[in-house]
Amino acid sequence: MKRQLVVVIGAQLVFCSLAVASERMEDGRKAYEANCATCHTSGTNGAPVTTSTEDWKNRSELWDAVLVEHAKSGYLAMPAKGGEPDTSNYDVEVAAEYMLNLAHPDFPQD
Ligand code: HEC
Repeated sequence: MKRQLVVVIGAQLVFCSLAVASERMEDGRKAYEANCATCHTSGTNGAPVTTSTEDWKNRSELWDAVLVEHAKSGYLAMPAKGGEPDTSNYDVEVAAEYMLNLAHPDFPQD
């Protein structure tokens, strides 16, 4: 009986964290499509194309820390927040996470 309870609670914890993670990815997809896709789908101004692993090869390996920061504050030809300063930090973060997941499907998901 006790063991069953533990299994049920454990399963719920896993389910909750998956639900939160997929919510972030869903928010990320929306924010990406609204703010980032214009350049990162076509490669405008030399933007790395999201689905091209090749384009991302020489970018920083410190994905979350460095690349998300670059997405927020700009980096070379990449305008801060994709050129939309009113975009919230949360939207830029989840958009960048979404993008990096697509760019590196082989990386472990958070
Ligand atoms: C106006 C076009 C444009 C938009 C919109 C845009 N980007 Fe970019 N982005 C670029 C370009 C160009 C680069 C390449 C910068 C370079 O290396 O010169 C880039 C590079 C990046 C990089 C790699 C930075 C690095 O350190 O190598 C990330 C991450 C990124 N963009 C995320 C985003 C996110 C997230 C959004 C949406 C919030 C976004 N971009 C919107 C043009 C854009």
